Amino acid sequence: MKRVVVVAGALLLSMGVVVAQQDVVKSTQMQMKATGKALGGTLAPMMKGEKPYDQAAVNEALKTLEDTAKKMPMMFPASIKTVKFEGDFNTSPKIWDDAAGFKAKTDEFAKAVSDAKAKIKDLDSLKANFPAIGKSCSGCHETYRVKNS
Ligand code: HEC
Repeated sequence: MKRVVVVAGALLLSMGVVVAQQDVVKSTQMQMKATGKALGGTLAPMMKGEKPYDQAAVNEALKTLEDTAKKMPMMFPASIKTVKFEGDFNTSPKIWDDAAGFKAKTDEFAKAVSDAKAKIKDLDSLKANFPAIGKSCSGCHETYRVKNS
């Protein structure tokens, strides 16, 4: 009887771990989607002149990017290494196998965002600072993000 209880307890515990992993994956994915929206839905169209420049919207988008930069060190814990993300993109195992390289990309991103936040005041400064942000996204994606087949 005791053994059954222990086994059931262990099962529950491992189910708990799976649920926790799924929660992390979901919030990581939501954060990345919000990041994509801030860049692709707000900053890029303004920069291209498809949307009028709007400082409040720019500030909001930069706040989202800053939030992502702050959360990044917690967004990819080792416990999700083998979890498959649903949708178009997945994590590369290199995030954990090359943790120093990944951290360098996280730092580059955080720096690009804080530089931009200090400088973007109008359309010209948006145009001047946008490329560094975009580069810091793709700089990480090209190595640490993979496409789901
Ligand atoms: C330090 C690494 C890193 C940086 C910097 C980074 N990303 Fe990501 N991104 C990832 C990884 C890993 C994934 C795959 C896991 C996922 O989908 O969440 C991803 C996924 C995404 C996705 C797909 C989300 C989904 O599941 O549909 C979008 C959109 C995205 N990133 C946008 C951005 C934008 C825009 C920036 C820059 C402003 C950025 N990312 C910066 C690592 C990064």
